[in-house]
Amino acid sequence: MDLKGRNFLTLKDFSPDEIGYLLDLAADFKEKKKKGIPVDIHRGKNVALIFEKTSTRTRCSFEVAAHDLGMGTTYLDPVSSQIGKKESIADTARVLGRLYEGIEYRGFGQEIVEELARYAGVPVWNGLTNEYHPTQMLADLLTIREQFGRLKGIRLVYMGDARYNMGNSLMVACSKMGLDFTACAPKKYFPDEKLVEECRGYAKRSGSAITLTEDVAEGVKDADVVYTDVWVSMGEPDEVWEERIRDLTPYRVTESVMEQAGKDAIFLHCLPSFHDLKTKIGREMGERFGITEMEVTDRVFESSRSRVFDEAENRMHTIKAVMAATLGV
Ligand code: CP
Ligand code: NVA
Repeated sequence: MDLKGRNFLTLKDFSPDEIGYLLDLAADFKEKKKKGIPVDIHRGKNVALIFEKTSTRTRCSFEVAAHDLGMGTTYLDPVSSQIGKKESIADTARVLGRLYEGIEYRGFGQEIVEELARYAGVPVWNGLTNEYHPTQMLADLLTIREQFGRLKGIRLVYMGDARYNMGNSLMVACSKMGLDFTACAPKKYFPDEKLVEECRGYAKRSGSAITLTEDVAEGVKDADVVYTDVWVSMGEPDEVWEERIRDLTPYRVTESVMEQAGKDAIFLHCLPSFHDLKTKIGREMGERFGITEMEVTDRVFESSRSRVFDEAENRMHTIKAVMAATLGV
């Protein structure tokens, strides 16, 4: 499998075999990390990490993974570079492409990371856009595979705003890799019809199913993985909170939801999560709307079914695989 020189912008661009290869490579890196075996195969290279939105996991994963591979990093934060304000994406790409062997980009529209990739001349990795979060998908798939020993036939239900980066990406990842995908949300939060059609094509080839339902009992029945994400994503205006809380509260992952799922079901969340009042926004929304938790209850988040911290750790191993493979293993 040769992925050298490829961009990593959405899993739509990768075959199931290529995705499987990246998961195997990540599992191998994970084992080596645990055993203390060095993997600094890209010594002397450098990567640029552009973040137009904030991050904990993705940034730290890229930095640690790059360091483990022997590479240097430059972090460009959401405010202090020229990007977009004084310099176009195309010019930025051509400058950074001369200095770095690879570029990570987190920001707004998918078309921005695509433009960056068109001009950079080096691999570009999508660290989250409004539409997709592909590095998160590899971590999720690895976590599911570790838990169940397989991907094919696993039933994943996504509860909440299914038309944004996480819902879209999970539908692509599941349909490509043979997991049944269910979006459980009010109709207006279903993923875009065109993307659903595209994914139905992948699902046909992998032998999986895509279901869109407003009915919680139907959506979570027999699920192996119950997945949710924040109700308001980065970059969205404050005004949408009220409507989201009203619309999505019936889709909160509660203990009752987990009881209706399969008996060995696990809970996943890309994080960060509003499961208590220990965050500034959580407290603010708590005061405004009289709630103590949002997309998931604290009891589910802290329960033995929750695998969210294994999932977070897997961000690093899978991001390492993406960089290593596209720079040439
Ligand atoms: N899941 C995820 O992408 O987390 P960060 O926003 O902290 O990078
Ligand atoms: N949907 C969330 C995902 C965060 C990892 C956001 O875009 O903010």
